[in-house]
Amino acid sequence: MSNNITITIDDKEIQTKEGEFILNAARANDIFIPAICYLTRCSPTLACRICLVEADGKQVYACNAKSKDGMNITTTTENIEKERRAIMEVYDVNHPLQCGVCDQSGECELQNYTLEMGVDIQHYSVKDVDRSSHDWGHLHYDPGLCIVCERCSTVCKDMIGDNSLKTIPRGADALNAEFKESMPKDAYAMWNKLNKSVIGLTNGTDVLDCTSCGECAAVCPVGALVDTQFMYKSNAWELKQIPATCGHCSAGCQITYDVKHTSIANTEEKIYRVMNEWNYVSLCGAGRYGFDYENRVESKDEVAFSKAIEAFNKADTIKFTSTITNEEAYILQSLKEKLGVKLVNAEAKSFQTFMKHYSEVSGKSLYSGDLKKTMNSDFVISVGSALKSDNPNARYSLNNPLTVNKGAGIYFHPVKDPVIEGLSKNLMIVNHAPLQEEAVLYLILDLFGDKEKLPTDIKDYLASFHSMKTVTVTETVKEKVTEIVKEMKVNEETGEEEEVEVEKTKMVPKKVSKEVEVDDNKLLEILGADDKFMEALTKNLKKKEIFSLMVGEDFYNHPNSKNLARLVAMIEKYSAFEVTIIPQLANTLGVSLICDLDDEVGSYTIGYNTKGDFTLSALGDGDLDMPAMNQQEGTLTSVNKRVNPTNAALGYNGYELNDIANALGLKAYNTIDYTQSLPTQKGFKSENFDDLPNHYENDGTEVRGYLLENISTDVLDDESVEKFSDEKLEGSIVYLANPVRQFTPFTNKTTNLDEIGGLYMSEEFLSNSELNEGDSVKIKTQTGELVTNIVSNNKIAGDIACLTTFDSKINSEAVINGYRFSLASIERV
Ligand code: SF4
Ligand code: SF4
Ligand code: FES
Repeated sequence: MSNNITITIDDKEIQTKEGEFILNAARANDIFIPAICYLTRCSPTLACRICLVEADGKQVYACNAKSKDGMNITTTTENIEKERRAIMEVYDVNHPLQCGVCDQSGECELQNYTLEMGVDIQHYSVKDVDRSSHDWGHLHYDPGLCIVCERCSTVCKDMIGDNSLKTIPRGADALNAEFKESMPKDAYAMWNKLNKSVIGLTNGTDVLDCTSCGECAAVCPVGALVDTQFMYKSNAWELKQIPATCGHCSAGCQITYDVKHTSIANTEEKIYRVMNEWNYVSLCGAGRYGFDYENRVESKDEVAFSKAIEAFNKADTIKFTSTITNEEAYILQSLKEKLGVKLVNAEAKSFQTFMKHYSEVSGKSLYSGDLKKTMNSDFVISVGSALKSDNPNARYSLNNPLTVNKGAGIYFHPVKDPVIEGLSKNLMIVNHAPLQEEAVLYLILDLFGDKEKLPTDIKDYLASFHSMKTVTVTETVKEKVTEIVKEMKVNEETGEEEEVEVEKTKMVPKKVSKEVEVDDNKLLEILGADDKFMEALTKNLKKKEIFSLMVGEDFYNHPNSKNLARLVAMIEKYSAFEVTIIPQLANTLGVSLICDLDDEVGSYTIGYNTKGDFTLSALGDGDLDMPAMNQQEGTLTSVNKRVNPTNAALGYNGYELNDIANALGLKAYNTIDYTQSLPTQKGFKSENFDDLPNHYENDGTEVRGYLLENISTDVLDDESVEKFSDEKLEGSIVYLANPVRQFTPFTNKTTNLDEIGGLYMSEEFLSNSELNEGDSVKIKTQTGELVTNIVSNNKIAGDIACLTTFDSKINSEAVINGYRFSLASIERV
């Protein structure tokens, strides 16, 4: 909705949306209102009360009072100033004076607001209680420093979806009763609540078991919740912030790498932490902690470089992964054109082919949706993705509308996922069998497609799944019941009170069974949806207006991926859903737009970040070293169809792909000279790298790089789609998927991410089998076999085991090379 009303804040007229929180309206117009507990995109908790303002003469909280046309707001009055000052004094009660060693010092909101409100004397006190610190693995919680603003628990619930933190009793003495009379009202109410709580874990233990994203520590305004890896490592003001784009998955989150020299003796810079604009972007654990994957190289290895040039002259294929920039993809495409080599990248090729088939029906080069639109919708469907680990931001985009927009949705996937199941009771889960993905899309068309407009053959096909069946339902009816009751009445003749019998009628509820004819939708049965699915859907669809569909990577290598792509385009065309097709890796979308990809490798292959006859590697395990993503300048194309710039956080002393390209006859001083040459016919813009911004505005507007243009494509006359087959995988199944926080060998190389590669099995699976955590097993499929270890994982459930791909020591391609699910035998060795 565009800005449609006018309000006045401190005599300044501003435009905003009807119903926008006053705080957000003020921030969007650069008007400062103090606020501590509120997080943009999450629900207001009213924990701090410092955002008090006067709206039309009434004191309200700016973070939860909604703007109305003509509203007149004053951000400061004498009373509000008193409240704010008292609130800050209260926050300072028993706050340890350890700023000299506190990690937050220098960027602490308690320090800032204490100074801002001019707190120079303390009027309040309460006896302190034991508030010992907690070691929660990758987090450290010091309740002594905690101001119980609840930002940590709020972001975990409303954004991340883990809901791992909550307030628990502090066990403190009650406040002195006289404070209630003597101190400002809101300050007292805030203190009274604060004094009763600290932060604890929702699982009731002292062991944090979550998806380890670190957002709670990022949003903590004080030094109470900190990342263990950063604790006591550096003062905030010593760090230099390098704006960048995370290179681990296609979400393309905006980050800064915070760097400084390694030590007094070693002046070489290192990354100390990753920060984000957490009001507008939320990271996953890989983005937050997986930053030290740089490839440190002493100097240019001239011998290896000349061997590389020889190898390029000999090669007929360059095989590569999508963890490269758009500019590098452009160089590879240019080398293809110059040297006549093939470009092979199986994962990007499958996405490219999927998009081609999608475009042939949709008439557009790109899908209509993005993760931001998904977050702003109120009914979300996810298909074809192990969302939690494939793209954590897509998970947040599902969770956020469920919790904040009173939304609902459906998650279709064969692998049971307790984290996804725990997001909301309004999220319906359908764990269908692998290979039944087309049936899922037909069901979506059936439930949500515009039947007036759908092509007749599809309409008829969908109708063939419907029949009428008789079911017995129980309903409550009201029945008239007459009863005789005894009452005392005055006898008119005698004038005396006496007991009489009176007839009384009342309506009594009664349960009755009856037979009714109902629609029987066989698609639901095929997919294993439970009996209550339609009833729950009808309830969940009430008042829903904005629909989003996320499509994931299970589809791109599916045996019928062409049909799936066409069905996705049909859903976009004939229903209210905005569709987002999630690319697999950091720059799969960019690579698929820039490179003409081939299917098969030839006889001599250059591998780039993957094994070849001659290997270029940013992982440091090849024949010639290359810079890793955190050592490069360039752009990455995200799932949100945005071309985002990233800067080099750390230096690099070796050769780059551009050096090789120059030696082979291309001409560019820097790799980023190619930014302006990215193909405009594919939607890129002719922009200089140095002109690309990378920040968020105060109203949340993403000012990062630029958006790709969605180009019109030729539409095939033939809109037909194939019927789906009954084939489904049943039995012992292995699925290619990584644990949360791991994506590629680059995340595997980092030191803070400790997940290990292997065959992940749910606790339920293990308890029903002879196998145990740590067992060495042989996995055998039609494609081949491999040996790996079992890892027990409580973030999946059910009996499908997940084989990781992030650890290149486990050659998962040997057993699954295509569709992510496969029948497999698993035997202990
Ligand atoms: S740990 Fe930090 S974010 Fe959480 S309630 Fe305490 S002060 Fe607020
Ligand atoms: S690390 Fe992430 S998932 Fe874990 S408690 Fe913090 S916000 Fe929640
Ligand atoms: S920001 Fe409004 S109550 Fe805390």
